[in-house]
Amino acid sequence: MSIQILGTGAYVPERILTNDDLSRLVDTSDEWITQRVGVKERHVSFDESAAEMGAKAAQRALEAAGITADQLDLIVGATVSADAVCPSVAALVQREIGASCPAFDVNSACSGFLFALDTAAAFVARGGIRYALVLGAERLSRIVDWTDRSTCVIFGDGSGAFVISPGENYLASHLHTQGSDSVLSIPLGKGNSPFYGKEEQPIAIRMSGQETFKFAVKQIVSDLKLIAEQAGVTPEQFDYIVPHQANLRIIDLAARRLGIPIEKFVVNLDRFGNTSSASVPISFDELARSGKLKKGDLIAMCAFGGGLSSAASLIRW
Ligand code: COA
Repeated sequence: MSIQILGTGAYVPERILTNDDLSRLVDTSDEWITQRVGVKERHVSFDESAAEMGAKAAQRALEAAGITADQLDLIVGATVSADAVCPSVAALVQREIGASCPAFDVNSACSGFLFALDTAAAFVARGGIRYALVLGAERLSRIVDWTDRSTCVIFGDGSGAFVISPGENYLASHLHTQGSDSVLSIPLGKGNSPFYGKEEQPIAIRMSGQETFKFAVKQIVSDLKLIAEQAGVTPEQFDYIVPHQANLRIIDLAARRLGIPIEKFVVNLDRFGNTSSASVPISFDELARSGKLKKGDLIAMCAFGGGLSSAASLIRW
């Protein structure tokens, strides 16, 4: 048994931070960020947690699906920027929207939403699940190092969600993990433990930009080829590709290596930046609401990030 997407939703906080705003915080410029990354502005949360934003995206997805929270049998969340390690974002979303089903998070950083979608799809395949909610919700602004110009210009806050049910539209998926903490990591503090032998690393996103860049391009290309092969199609047959929104140069290079026109890639990182696990569902939601999609369209999704991890899925609309 496969799945179908019944409805999608997204939410970003109101406050917009432009590149010019950032150039007053760190030594950077709109020109550098636009050319090297492609982001023009991002949304940042002042007072909403990842879970609160996730609940708003979830409500919109439920409305689009035409179901109510009490009909949900499962909630799978993805995040790296929750207010707490426990409870999970999924558990807090469950409370916020008034659901009563089991709810838990998966952690696979920016690939987290596609890992969560595949997890939910496996639960559906096991049977007994009529409706499941899958969401990515991030308040990255609380873990970004706002003094580090090579990372703080990239990220933004927001959330996105899908309501899924049994169906036949999930054609292929591929999950990849290459365990490493040297390229991309978000260390936790040591608290006040007197038994902590290592040097404490402050809580912040730490990233080797160029290593991440190379990993991203390589994985987008190989993951998209793999899901095309699984589904018995070629990447050129994809009608749309919804990629993780990290850097326009990454998307452009992957598109050229695959021989797919860049116009087929959904790009909104200029307005939202990299919202980690929320970036694929936010972008998918924009596509779904754009009125462009036709029944039968092949839509590929792909993501990469900490772990190191990457993932891709293929949906027939
Ligand atoms: N503004 C101005 N200059 C900046 C800057 C900024 N915001 N950030 C870095 N620089 C400077 C560096 O200090 C460096 O200066 P130097 O040559 O004097 O030392 C120069 O720009 C080049 O730095 P480099 O790190 O080589 O730049 P880059 O072209 O690799 O771009 C990233 C940096 C981070 C934008 C790019 O590597 C990237 O996007 N990588 C992928 C990151 C990613 O996808 N992360 C999310 C994963 S989920």
